[in-house]
Amino acid sequence: MTRTVYVNGDYVPEGEASVSIFDRGFLFADGVYEVTSVLGGKLVDFDGHWARLERSLTELEMRNPVDRDEMLAIHRELVSVNGIVDGRVYLQVTRGSAGDRDFAYPSEDTEPTLVLFTQATPGILDAPIAQKGIRVISVDDLRWARRDIKTVQLLYPCMGKMAAKAAGVDDAWMVEDGAVTEGTSNNAYIVKDGAIVTRALSHDILAGITRAAVLRFANEAQMKVVERDFTIEEAKAADEAFITSASMFVQGVVEVDGEAIGDGRPGPVSQRLREIYLEESLKVAI
Ligand code: PDD
Repeated sequence: MTRTVYVNGDYVPEGEASVSIFDRGFLFADGVYEVTSVLGGKLVDFDGHWARLERSLTELEMRNPVDRDEMLAIHRELVSVNGIVDGRVYLQVTRGSAGDRDFAYPSEDTEPTLVLFTQATPGILDAPIAQKGIRVISVDDLRWARRDIKTVQLLYPCMGKMAAKAAGVDDAWMVEDGAVTEGTSNNAYIVKDGAIVTRALSHDILAGITRAAVLRFANEAQMKVVERDFTIEEAKAADEAFITSASMFVQGVVEVDGEAIGDGRPGPVSQRLREIYLEESLKVAI
């Protein structure tokens, strides 16, 4: 089946979708994005992603071309026409095209570009990796200093992913001034003596929508949560480690820089959080 995608008001087969070569997303990475997971045909935490999109756009003085209800309708239409049961909806808003290359932002009346597409991930909840856990290496965090804005400047995370691949592992944790910031496309956590430790929110990391939900569920379940910096050495000595993201949910991390964490298997805290997260998120998915 040919995938149907959305481009600036139209639903078209993916092979017919097009955006100008002068689009600022293409020329300057002048755009933001969101990834919302779909489980059982429903959108997980749509409103969390919508709120973060609005924030990213505001921080960059960019206009949102649609309102919340229209964005939800586009998500639902794409999920429906593409027959997505388990998968993701990717959305991207750019500052549009002024018809030439100019570093200065174009005039206010330049239409932003809005693109959405779906990705199917059948069987993702039962993927063996969830039981096995992922392995990570550490790399220096060389990204820009406003990682709280979800921009499409993703070259450095791609390089981190390739460094991980070259090392024969699954992902990279980025380190700045001796402390872990986050994974290439996920938030990072360790568990020590029952406490869940994760970096506090700031301009240094993305405020994960999954992170917010998981920390809320952890607090509700009376688990101890500490928001502070942690080092790779601490991760090696931790009882458990895990990541969260809309695409991986809660995923155990079993090795960092070649050293096993805990007993080298996803630990009980991350497994319990994964269960709670999936159960509670599914209840309120729309
Ligand atoms: N990435 N940190 C970074 C750098 C990310 O790119 C992401 C998400 C997260 C987790 O955020 P959330 O829980 O809202 O997905 C943290 C998405 C999934 C991606 O780029 O594909």
